[in-house]
Amino acid sequence: MKVNNQHYRSVWIEGTTVHLIEQNLLPFKFQIFKAKKYTDTCRAIKEMVTRGAGAIGGAAAFAMAQAAYEANADNYKNFINEARNTIESTRPTAYDLFYSVEAVYKAALKSPESAMQKAQELADANAAAGRAIGENGNKILSNNVNILTHCNAGWLAFVDYGSALAPVYVAHEQGKNVFVYADETRPRSQGARLTAWELHNQEIPHAIIADNAAASLMQQGKIDVLITGADRIAANGDVANKIGTLEKAIVAKYYGISFYVTAPISTIDPGLPNGKKINIEERSADEVHYATGPDAENKLHTIRLSNPGSEAINPAFDVTPASLVKGIITEKGIIEPNKKSILALLTT
Ligand code: MRU
Repeated sequence: MKVNNQHYRSVWIEGTTVHLIEQNLLPFKFQIFKAKKYTDTCRAIKEMVTRGAGAIGGAAAFAMAQAAYEANADNYKNFINEARNTIESTRPTAYDLFYSVEAVYKAALKSPESAMQKAQELADANAAAGRAIGENGNKILSNNVNILTHCNAGWLAFVDYGSALAPVYVAHEQGKNVFVYADETRPRSQGARLTAWELHNQEIPHAIIADNAAASLMQQGKIDVLITGADRIAANGDVANKIGTLEKAIVAKYYGISFYVTAPISTIDPGLPNGKKINIEERSADEVHYATGPDAENKLHTIRLSNPGSEAINPAFDVTPASLVKGIITEKGIIEPNKKSILALLTT
């Protein structure tokens, strides 16, 4: 997607240096973070310089390729094994990370060049999947549609294009009137900061809403469809996504509003029979207690929002049962969230 008329991916590699859009600074500053070593890329994933399942998968793939180039011939296998463990321990929930690392690790067993080629292939495939999800998802969007989305599953959350916002981009390109309600998505505010920034740049009509406003808007008939991304989808169609998704899905069901999940096939974890065993990341309580934003001179400050001395808990994701999901929009088409459809999708 374009920023100031220049095309960017959220993650890419030049030589063996991984480049990432610094998402912790958006929307206030646009900066590129350069990760020279695979451990720098791991830190960037952990500290959420890059985030979102597809972008994490892309960064992890490049990290694995970087590790292959950093390894010495005499200790090659041990080094890449250790690197794989380190990369996989950065963030536990998004399946794309594990999918990518596995594929690039296998290629790295042949050579660093094979690893790099595979990582680049995966990055390109992730960007292409986003565009195809957009085209498939556009089919469920009529003219004058009001969409609710949660967190950020736009191009920043992917190598390019996105998942939940991809149908919105295609519909807008085709001249449909679309309006997006972006949940702010506390505690890290990916909706208020990143989704809003993307939509604003694309000149797509939208409004940020407080997380607790969504139910009331649904009750008033202001939302036609709920669309989110996914971090991991189990073989029965249960979906792990940003904390708060479950609540929106329950309310949407109550008001008869369709809930579509968008994801590339690389987000489906075929080894997981249902969502119960998905490893839900627990993040620092400080994300609940504090927020960072700019002053009038665009200088960033961190301020406390909560009672000093109180504890906070911060689960980063929740699991929505398949029964609340109308369909999963993938690069290969829209499927029902059940074992049979998912198996058929994975085997075609
Ligand atoms: O913690 P994050 O920002 O990495 O969370 C990921 C997300 O942005 C969402 O859960 C998203 O809907 C799925 S990622 C395409």
